[in-house]
Amino acid sequence: KSFLQKLWKGNVSAKMLTPHLQKARREYLRANKLGVSYTGKHNSKKLNPQELLCVLKKRAHVRTLDGKEAPFSNLGWEKYFPQTPLNLLYRQGFSSCAVVSSAGAILNSSLGAEIDAHDAVLRFNTAPTRNYERDVGNKTTMRIINSQILTNPIHHFTDSYLYKDVTLVAWDPSPYFADLHMWYHKPDYNLFPPYEQHRKKNPDQPFYIIHPKFTWELWKIIQENSNEKIQPNPPSSGFIGILIMMSMCQKVHVYEYIPSYRQTDLCHYHEQYYDAACTLGAYHPLLYEKMLVQRINQGSEDNLLRKGKVTLPGFSSIQC
Ligand code: C5P
Repeated sequence: KSFLQKLWKGNVSAKMLTPHLQKARREYLRANKLGVSYTGKHNSKKLNPQELLCVLKKRAHVRTLDGKEAPFSNLGWEKYFPQTPLNLLYRQGFSSCAVVSSAGAILNSSLGAEIDAHDAVLRFNTAPTRNYERDVGNKTTMRIINSQILTNPIHHFTDSYLYKDVTLVAWDPSPYFADLHMWYHKPDYNLFPPYEQHRKKNPDQPFYIIHPKFTWELWKIIQENSNEKIQPNPPSSGFIGILIMMSMCQKVHVYEYIPSYRQTDLCHYHEQYYDAACTLGAYHPLLYEKMLVQRINQGSEDNLLRKGKVTLPGFSSIQC
């Protein structure tokens, strides 16, 4: 069986990756830059899909900064964070949602119309819709951005159309044991000044910062349910986004996160850059995230192979 066929079955190990990617994973494990310490179990009991969904529903509570905790409370930042918590922003929630990965494999998929038919669409970082409508659609409800988007001028965060008229959710890797003080003073990329500026200029645009506790809780759930040691780095924006949508939607349809038969080393559909790490992971524990998502997929195998589409129940649709 090919690697891809094994991935579709959720049956892969880091040992099946290219030597280059195996080495990258080992080096992240050794460096452990964020000081991750994991003493919990490693897949001591393999959970069935329903049990896994219940673990996610019970523990993956979306959390964003609200300004009530120090140092933000002392800095008077309560006024900058949105009044409405993210999980209450869309009061009724959505019935059907799309999560659109930025993978090159979505090129030539003609999935655009299907994606736009959902009630809400989540996209990531710099992924455009203009000129790619046929394959990725053009509706964007929410965009998850990492801290580099806010801090690197190359992304034109303040004036690009990508970041207007959508709900923004930003995140930054924090050390595993850091409290908000330590993180505020030493973020990976300093997203706080551009966040403050953007909030002052655009107070009506919903714009959240993910609480690092949420990101690390997701990491722990991935690690606990994997057979191998996963990279000691936060999960990808894609995984974070899938879990956010599961808390806001009755059904979540994820496109080209687990690759279809169109799988390619082309990193992003909008860039001529080739690297298998974008799909299989180097920094992020992507391979393990994807196996976990594969295990809770309720869509058909045909949809996975042909569309790269996974269908997940939202938390409100799960009985635990
Ligand atoms: O690269 P970037 O993080 O902006 O891409 C958004 C998300 O799409 C990733 O976090 C990852 O979850 C997913 N992705 C993927 N395969 C790729 C590129 C992106 O699964 N080749």
